[in-house]
Amino acid sequence: MTYSLIVGNWKMYKSISEATTLINAIKAGVRAATEVNIAVCVPFTALQAANEALQGSKIDLGAQNMHYESEGAFTGEISPLMLKEVGCRYVILGHSERRQHFKESDELINKKVLAALKYSFIPIVCIGETLEQREARQAFEVVKKQFEGSLAHLEAKDLERIVIAYEPVWAIGTGKTATPEQAEQMHSYIRRLLIEKYGDDTASKVRILYGGSVKPDNITQLMEKPNLDGALVGGASLKAESFIQIVTNSTHLSGARGN
Ligand code: 13P
Repeated sequence: MTYSLIVGNWKMYKSISEATTLINAIKAGVRAATEVNIAVCVPFTALQAANEALQGSKIDLGAQNMHYESEGAFTGEISPLMLKEVGCRYVILGHSERRQHFKESDELINKKVLAALKYSFIPIVCIGETLEQREARQAFEVVKKQFEGSLAHLEAKDLERIVIAYEPVWAIGTGKTATPEQAEQMHSYIRRLLIEKYGDDTASKVRILYGGSVKPDNITQLMEKPNLDGALVGGASLKAESFIQIVTNSTHLSGARGN
C-alpha cells in the first residue's frame, strides 16, 4: 500500500522560533489524518529545531537541497551526512527555483539523486515546463528530457524510493494552478515514461506529486485524478491552517490506482 504524500516546501521562509511554532500547530492539527504521509522541508537553519519539534509525530522532515559529496572543500554547501545527522528523511532536488536561479542542470541533479539514494534519503525530484515552453507546445518534450536526465543511471529497485514532483513553473507562486485535467495529462505521461523504462510494477509504486498553487480548495479535485499521488505545497504550507486543511482534504483520496 502506497499512501499519498503531502509535502510542505517552506522555501526561504521561517526563523527557528517560527518553525517550531508552525510545526507544533501542524502536529496538533493533523493528528487524526490517516492514509497520508506528511513531510515538511524547512530551511537548513531550522532543521535541528524542527527535528526536535517533530519527535513523537508521524510527520517527516526534509531538506530543500543537498550537495552530492559527503564532505569536502565546497564552501556554502551542505552534505548528505549533515542532513542525516539532523534527522532528514526527504530531500527536494532540482526544484525549478534551483534550476532557474542557480543554474542546476539535469546532470548535476542526477548526481544529487544518486547521492541521496546512497545515503538512504527519499529524493523528491522536481520536473516541469515554463510558460514559454508550454505555449510553444514543448511541455512533454521538456518534461521527458528532465525526467531522463535527472533520473539517469537508476535501476528499478532505486525507483521504488523516488518521489517525482511535477511542478509546472507557470503555476508556482502565481495562484494559477494547473487544472486537474492538465495535471493528470502530464502525470499519466510521466507514468508512461516510468512504465516504458522500468515496467508496470515499479511504475505503479512511484509517487508523482503535483506542485504549483495547491490550496485547500483545489487539492480535492487534484487528488481525485488517478495519477496524482500527493502534493508539493509552497505558500499554503507556511500557515498551519491551510496546510492542515490540505492534508485533511487529501486523506482517503489516495490509492485510486489500487496501490
Ligand atoms: P506554491 O504552492 O507557492 O505555488 O509553490 C509550489 C512549489 O514551488 C512547491 O515546491
